[in-house]
Amino acid sequence: DWNMPDYISEAVEAIRKQVGSDEVILGLSGGVDSSVAAALIHRAIGDQLTCVFVDHGLLRLDEGKMVMNMFGKNLGVKVIHVDATEQFMGKLAGVTDPEAKRKIIGREFVEVFQSEAGKLKNAKWLAQGTIYPDVIESAGKGKKTAHTIKSHHNVGGLPETLNLKLLEPLRELFKDEVRELGVALGLPHDMVYRHPFPGPGLGVRILGEVKMDYADLLRRADAIFIEELRATTDEEGKSWYDKTSQAFAVFLPVKSVGVMGDGRTYEYVVALRAVQTQDFMTAHWAHLPHDLLGKVSNRIINEVRGINRVVYDISGKPPATIEWE
Ligand code: XMP
Repeated sequence: DWNMPDYISEAVEAIRKQVGSDEVILGLSGGVDSSVAAALIHRAIGDQLTCVFVDHGLLRLDEGKMVMNMFGKNLGVKVIHVDATEQFMGKLAGVTDPEAKRKIIGREFVEVFQSEAGKLKNAKWLAQGTIYPDVIESAGKGKKTAHTIKSHHNVGGLPETLNLKLLEPLRELFKDEVRELGVALGLPHDMVYRHPFPGPGLGVRILGEVKMDYADLLRRADAIFIEELRATTDEEGKSWYDKTSQAFAVFLPVKSVGVMGDGRTYEYVVALRAVQTQDFMTAHWAHLPHDLLGKVSNRIINEVRGINRVVYDISGKPPATIEWE
């Protein structure tokens, strides 16, 4: 049980004491942890904080706009928006292996971030949204767990050559505390209670080779799915978005035949995935209402030209994983 206003003023004091008049940089991903860290550090030191938001072209629909609006416009945080889509797409061309794609995205990310950070000559600190479970997890590194089956790349693997000191104001907090703190700092409820989104983004939700036109179709299909999950509630008024732990669309680069008007179509497939889980190590597929699935399917096929078939993934973890790659 903690008192939020007291916690915030203590945390703010601690950050001020730690960094003094130094400049701080932070890699903003749009995820909960880096966002809350940014809001807290900004509360403490204002313009001494500069955030770098790297768009690899594999983000959800309007994610860049959302981040820039929320931090830049609403909170007045200094944010540098780097559109590195071309660079990432170039490196990913022709690559189909999931782990190879992860490694490329992780490596490019660090490179782009590092080059932006290098331009901020006065920065002495690198801030990260590390939370308590991350601290525990990296302490147990080397242990073979289900987690190491995929090489998880998270935004903010420390670029060591930057020679910056680490500022990690969320190190002692659990996820639910981070969320409470975010709301108290003025971040919108919907953003603070978002499902997790993987660092490689749509790069691991487009099976095989990543192409920009696939990403554009997937973004639109995914946005429709999420919109309907948020809009559909159960008897108690809880939305299906809040009743699931993670939900998203996956692009299958396979064509199947369909019929539209009096024409035959031959287009791609989208799979919907929605799971319920406590720890993401095991998961059940969500029993979404058929009406909801039907509506999402109709909307995707009608609104996203290029998709003529939608399927629902009913695999548990294990043996399937949550992501398809
Ligand atoms: P899987 O697919 O392994 O996913 O069942 C478990 C959780 O981890 C997320 N995930 C990732 N997160 N980088 C990340 O930052 C990754 O490469 C990555 N791969 C999976 C996944 O979204 C789910 O929440």
